[in-house]
Amino acid sequence: MQLKLNFIIFKNFVPLFLIILFSFSSRSERTSLIYKFTNRKSDTIIIKLPKPLVKGIMTVEEALSKRRSVREYKDTCLTLQEVSQLLWAAYGISDSVKWNGFGLHTAPSAGALYPLELYLVAGNVSGLPAGIYKFRPKGHCLILVKSGDNRSDLCDAALKQKMIKYAPASIVYSAIFARTTEKYGNRGRERYVCMDLGHSGENIYLQATAMGIGTCAIGAFEDKKVAKIINMSKDEEPLYIMPVGKLKE
Ligand SMILES: Cc1cc2nc3c(=O)[nH]c(=O)nc-3n(C[C@H](O)[C@H](O)[C@H](O)COP(=O)(O)O)c2cc1C
Repeated sequence: MQLKLNFIIFKNFVPLFLIILFSFSSRSERTSLIYKFTNRKSDTIIIKLPKPLVKGIMTVEEALSKRRSVREYKDTCLTLQEVSQLLWAAYGISDSVKWNGFGLHTAPSAGALYPLELYLVAGNVSGLPAGIYKFRPKGHCLILVKSGDNRSDLCDAALKQKMIKYAPASIVYSAIFARTTEKYGNRGRERYVCMDLGHSGENIYLQATAMGIGTCAIGAFEDKKVAKIINMSKDEEPLYIMPVGKLKE
């Protein structure tokens, strides 16, 4: 009887608690809360990203002419909307035409096999707790891999390149080479996967430039350390770190 009563109180209290939490949170935080709540059973925290824009104010020509590798950023946060836009530009799904059941992405890929995985190492993104998140193009969302601010560790693993520590976030690329080599063999390993990476990385450069955000492609790091920080699986190899932060005036 007592147990039943406790359950009824608990059942009624949870929605009330969520309503209170909702009224004190910002709009972007609310989105996160919904997803955390609905996925708590599977222990997977999924954060739905805001819808990316498909029209901007800067032309491609202007972005191409202004693009540079930027290694110092304004000491301010990025928003979830900005991070969403950068990830979508990098590897988001741009066409829902079915291909292997996953749709086609913003970056081309040999055989549409999409060997790349993208992670967001977030330290100062408004509406997003510090942590490492895996970007899932299908559904345009983030999956929490690890909580906490990992920017310093990532910076150390990248030969102490300071922009990683001070940027509000970094996008880390890995590749599952087997996805491409199964079809293309050695040509896939020696050429196609890195070509895919180049296309996607340039998308980040151009999208960032158009948004007043700076980035720099970083290839110099200790592979094992980066893979460990990110919790990469054994079949993944880290390829790029791209810190992102607002341009200094
Ligand atoms: C494969 C690759 C690896 C790179 N690795 C680093 C790096 O570890 N650290 C860094 O500061 N810049 C790195 N860069 C950025 C280059 O230094 C930069 O692109 C080059 O100086 C030309 O400048 P720009 O990008 O502004 O045109 C890398 C670029 C590429 C393409």
